[in-house]
Amino acid sequence: MNVIRTIAEARAFIQARQHEGSGAVGLVPTMGYLHEGHASLMRKAREMCGTVVVSIFVNPIQFGPGEDYETYPRDEARDLALAEAEGVDAVFIPSVEEMYPQPTKTKITVAEITSLLCGASRPGHFDGVTTVVSKLFHIIKPAYAFFGMKDAQQVAVIEQMVRDLNMDVSIVPCPIIREQDGLALSSRNVYLSPEERRQALVLSGSLKAAQAIIEQNPEVTAGEIRTMLREHITQSPLADIDYAEVLTFPELSPIADSEQALGTDRGVIMALAVRFGRTRLIDNALIQPK
Ligand code: PAJ
Repeated sequence: MNVIRTIAEARAFIQARQHEGSGAVGLVPTMGYLHEGHASLMRKAREMCGTVVVSIFVNPIQFGPGEDYETYPRDEARDLALAEAEGVDAVFIPSVEEMYPQPTKTKITVAEITSLLCGASRPGHFDGVTTVVSKLFHIIKPAYAFFGMKDAQQVAVIEQMVRDLNMDVSIVPCPIIREQDGLALSSRNVYLSPEERRQALVLSGSLKAAQAIIEQNPEVTAGEIRTMLREHITQSPLADIDYAEVLTFPELSPIADSEQALGTDRGVIMALAVRFGRTRLIDNALIQPK
């Protein structure tokens, strides 16, 4: 496996692979501290692409002031071992100076769908994401890029950017990988105390309960689902709700409280962000039209 730290080396590597005719290039962008969720994206990329590149870069411009940029967990040796075990061809692991030799004056902004959910609680976050993902696309020039539905809004935002700017890449959304007890895997789960970890099960638990209600009663309204999610989550004394929303997916349009949650012609997402102490966790569930 190649470990590449500069943009020039990355471009040379991709050019050489293409010269060899080694098939489609797949990119898995990450911020490292890799887990089974990231590994699932690498496996999907390995299935579909002749060349698989994983990027590991804790992107400072997607963190707000007072967020966890400094303390974001990092373990390069372990990450490289995991990527190698997944048969990745190259890991691109640039420094901040390599990616941002000067503060960037150019940013990519996707409007509207970035002003709600995580975009409302984390102003500027998605500009940081779309800007760095766009830079990575220009450096690696992937035919396919793999993203987890754990960050469903991120998938919607990146797909919008790719469509709006005619980027020549196909976005491949991949399913959420969970612990056996239901907690969605996240690099940030290491921040949780044992008690917070136990109570964090209310995220997946409330989504599962809501899904069961929708299956039993397809007439249930979006308002009833919102109330149900909130009531379920607030049973955990350590849980502090940032949002518990029901929206269309991928448009992320509002659904009125009085409207039936389940659509016949549109996907629906139930999206949660909940704080446990200083740790903010997100989770979601999609309901496809019947
Ligand atoms: P990061 O949080 O490291 O996640 C990298 C990719 O792994 C994302 O596409 C994310 O959705 C996916 N992922 C994380 N946990 C997952 C899980 N439990 N199941 C499935 N996929 C999961 O998302 C980012 O980094 C950054 O914003 C990035 C896109 C790299 C831009 O900096």
